[in-house]
This record gives sequence, structure tokens and C-alpha cells, in this order.
Amino acid sequence: MNVRQIAPNIYWVGVIDWDTRYFHGHSLSTHRGTTYNAYLILDEKVALVDTVYTPVADKLLENIRQIVDPAQIDYIICNHSEVDHSGAIPHVLAAAPKAQIYCTQKGAEFLEAQFHGGWDYHVVKTFDELSLGKRTLTFLEAPMLHWPDSMFTYIKEDAILMPNDAFGQHYASSGRFDDEVDVDEMMEEASKYYANILTPFSSLVAKKLKEVADLGLPIKMICPSHGVMFRQNPGLILEAYQRWSTAPAEGGVVIVYDTMWGSTKMMAEAIASGVDAAGVPYKIFHLPVSDRNDVIEEIMRAGAVAIGSATINRGVLPAIAPLLDELVGLRVAGKKALAFGSDGWGGGAVKVINEYLDKAGMQRISEGVAMRWRPDEAARKALQEIGRQLAESIE
Ligand code: FEO
Repeated sequence: MNVRQIAPNIYWVGVIDWDTRYFHGHSLSTHRGTTYNAYLILDEKVALVDTVYTPVADKLLENIRQIVDPAQIDYIICNHSEVDHSGAIPHVLAAAPKAQIYCTQKGAEFLEAQFHGGWDYHVVKTFDELSLGKRTLTFLEAPMLHWPDSMFTYIKEDAILMPNDAFGQHYASSGRFDDEVDVDEMMEEASKYYANILTPFSSLVAKKLKEVADLGLPIKMICPSHGVMFRQNPGLILEAYQRWSTAPAEGGVVIVYDTMWGSTKMMAEAIASGVDAAGVPYKIFHLPVSDRNDVIEEIMRAGAVAIGSATINRGVLPAIAPLLDELVGLRVAGKKALAFGSDGWGGGAVKVINEYLDKAGMQRISEGVAMRWRPDEAARKALQEIGRQLAESIE
């Protein structure tokens, strides 16, 4: 892959990963691959902002060599120590023996705990600056966006923000900039990324956005560590983050379920019919044939959610359990919710779903609907009414 100049003497030297289909172990689907972005700044001093994932370290070094001998690198700025950005640091250091690492206190601790390198860490705090000669790097700590060690690097003279994971997308593309890709496709990935990674930290995202806005820093370009860079319209992703972090729901009902012999599916469809009658848009997902991370994004954007499962062993079917776990982890607080499910004699699934909805801080509109065997016409009518109530509960 060719390197790309993004401003005079500033280069994208990252790596495009067209192949990866899962991230964070197997917990996050990445249908469109990803990129690991790293940036090289040439000045009186040479700085590398972030590196790449370990298996593609050689590609990073090849890219750097197209511009400068890596031995010339003076500083490695580590905005975030997760290995998709720090994994190549040992390889870069081997080629750049004089390089010093700049990172937050937590960054130094986390890098040492992962690599045991005993490296020369220079710990920085918010507003600390590092002069490269004609250019100055300003550091802004951004704890829990999305790790305690995260920080942003801002290049004052070029008004370029390098915020690492924030504003990123798992999106491999031939275009490197927002004006070179399908913007709708790119924003779809940005939305999924936010929903699945940043949702638990929405209040901190909103606070950080305000903090940056209050600083009045001009931002001509946003260069995250995954996906494309925003040079045509950085406001697009800033506004989206503002919206997602403060009022993530855009309306509509998501109905997600698993069924054993079709009864819970009939319940899902009857609830949907009631939502439809209320004039509210809805989507139905049969979870075993859906992508869980895509469904999570849909839930984040929905005004209300209904989750259904047939009962097995007094609990939920196996496809439903990971979704419930993630909703608790992602803290989907405040969203209107309904549990439903069919059973034969003992029941239990609706009780389990309710417990998870409560743990996630969601607002249940009722005790849920646990139904025996197959819903008859009267039961379907009752479910339609509940679907209508769920739709009308959206504020
Ligand atoms: Fe938190 Fe892209 O790593």
C-alpha cells in the first residue's frame, strides 16, 4: 500500500486489513475489514503517531522507509496502548533505537505490562506540548475513550486532531479520506463502532466533545486510528458523536427473538403488528441468523426494544444469552423494553430476560409476556395491544 501525504510533511503510513472479520477476540464483527492508521511527521524532529497491530508491523516499517529511514524517528507517540496500535512498537524501536515513547501515565503502565520492555517512557498530561521544530504536538488526555490510557494528539500548526480510536470505523477501503469513499457506508461503520465500543462511555464522550469545543481549537482534519480520515467534513463525525452520546435513540422498535418451534416467533410477529398499527417503524431480528453486533447497533438507535425467547432449562435459548450479557455491559440505560416468550410448562425465559433488562437499566413497560404453548387468536390480539403500548411508550 502506498503511503499518503495528508499535509506537508505529514503522512499516513498505516496498514489496510481487508481480511479481518472479527475484532476484540470474536466479540465484534467487522464485515468490511479495518485499517490500522499510523502517522509520520517530518520536522527537525521526526515523530510517529501510533503504530499498528503486531502481525502487520513489517508493512508499517516498509511504509515508513518509503519516506524516511526509521532510524531517524525521535518520538513514538502512543495515544493508546491496545495492541492494534501498540503491537508494532517493539519492531519500530528495533529500527529506531533513539526513539522515545510519549504516552499517558496509564499508557506507560499498560505498555510495560504488555511488552515488559523497560522502555524510555515520557509521561504526558493534558496541554503538555512537544515541539518538533516548526510544529508542536499538544496532548489531551481522554480517559475511557475507550481505555483509561487513551489520549488525543493535536497538531497545532495544521489543526489536525489524531484521536486514536475515537471517531474511528472498522472500514477497509481504497480511499483514505472521507471525500474518497461512500460516505453513507463509512458512517454506517462509524455508527456500529460507536454503538459497540463507546456506548458505555457516552457521558464521557459528550464531556470530551464539550471540552474540545470550549478550547476553541480549530479542527481542519480528524485522523483516527481506524478507517478513513475526515478532511472534507470533520463536522460530520463530530456532530454524529454529539448526537449518539447525548440522544442516541432515533425512534422505532427493534424486536429480537429466538424461537424453538415457532411460537415465540408468532409472538414477535403479533407484537410487530401492534407496533405497526401505532404507526411506528419496526425491525424484527431472528437472532441466530442475525449478526449480534449489527443488532446491538439497531437497539442503540431504537426507541424501544422487545426481546423474546422460548424457554429451555428454565432460561433463555443459547443465542439470546450473549446479547443480554452485552446489553448489560454496554449499559443501554433508559430505553423502553419488553420481554416475551413461549414455554410449555415451567417457563423461566421471560424472568431471565427481565433480570437482564433491569441490570442494563432499561425501562420495562411491564412484567413481560410469558405465554404457554402456541398463541391463539385472542392471545395474538393481546400481543398486538402490547406492541401498540410499547410503540406508544417511546417519548
Ligand atoms: Fe482500543 Fe483500536 O484499539
